[in-house]
Amino acid sequence: MTRPLRRHHAPFLAALACAALGVAVAANAPFEDLRSQPPIHGDAAAGAAKAATCAACHGADGIAIAPTFPNLAGQSATYLYVQLREFRNDTRVSAVMQPLVADLGDQDMRDLAAHFASLPGKPAAAVQQTSSRGYALYHDGDPGAGVPACQGCHGVDGRGPRPDITSTAPHPAWSTFPALAGQDTLYVLAQLQAYHAGTRADSSNDKVMQGVAQNLSDADMQALADYISSQ
Ligand code: HEC
Ligand code: HEC
Repeated sequence: MTRPLRRHHAPFLAALACAALGVAVAANAPFEDLRSQPPIHGDAAAGAAKAATCAACHGADGIAIAPTFPNLAGQSATYLYVQLREFRNDTRVSAVMQPLVADLGDQDMRDLAAHFASLPGKPAAAVQQTSSRGYALYHDGDPGAGVPACQGCHGVDGRGPRPDITSTAPHPAWSTFPALAGQDTLYVLAQLQAYHAGTRADSSNDKVMQGVAQNLSDADMQALADYISSQ
């Protein structure tokens, strides 16, 4: 299995320099520009054969076995691939995921992404919190507080913008935007806090979410996480 050179030296040195100076790492850390990321294609059957390790946490059917792990089933393949690449390049920080992807080649990541994207997403909860603060924020935002509606980027049902990946037309930047529906409260809350605090800040897409999360209060992050987990 061959794989291209990893790019971890620059972020590592930058982190070291920032640590030495005692300044926040996230503010000036290098980030990946995803605006020209083309949709990815992979071999889902080959990915299924490579997914045994992943099943321990993300489930054999791509539905996570614990609330701090994300569901991968039904997620955008391009989003999944980009996240794996970010873990492997050490730009998205996770002590759990980084070692697990260290030896994956580019084709492995494409195949795994295609496999999990091809599985049916988690069904919506029996009772959706349609009269909650989270529902209102998700669908309408709170312009007075500087919070945009989430549905514009994540889909009215939280299933993502779902671009036509068979199209040969130039791909819109939002083709890498993730589905959220059915992710567990704890996982969603942790991600919103990470964007809010600027610790998940490794790509142009993260910068978009940092802007969104900047004006969210703790109570609103909790309300959104509760609603999204019921979608
Ligand atoms: C020991 C448990 C564990 C195993 C095994 C594991 N993961 Fe993960 N995975 C996690 C955790 C925890 C996160 C959330 C990381 C964070 O805090 O941001 C995650 C996040 C991800 C994400 C990002 C999803 C999103 O919505 O942003 C992808 C993609 C992913 N894992 C793919 C895989 C693949 C592919 C494998 C197998 C090669 C795998 N994982 C194995 C625990 C695991
Ligand atoms: C302008 C577009 C846009 C809007 C509006 C938006 N998001 Fe996002 N969101 C994104 C993008 C792009 C990403 C992927 C960022 C990355 O790669 O880390 C993302 C990622 C996320 C994630 C992480 C998903 C995962 O699997 O790890 C969560 C949670 C999230 N958004 C919640 C929200 C909520 C809640 C709102 C409304 C308050 C919202 N988003 C509004 C674009 C948007």
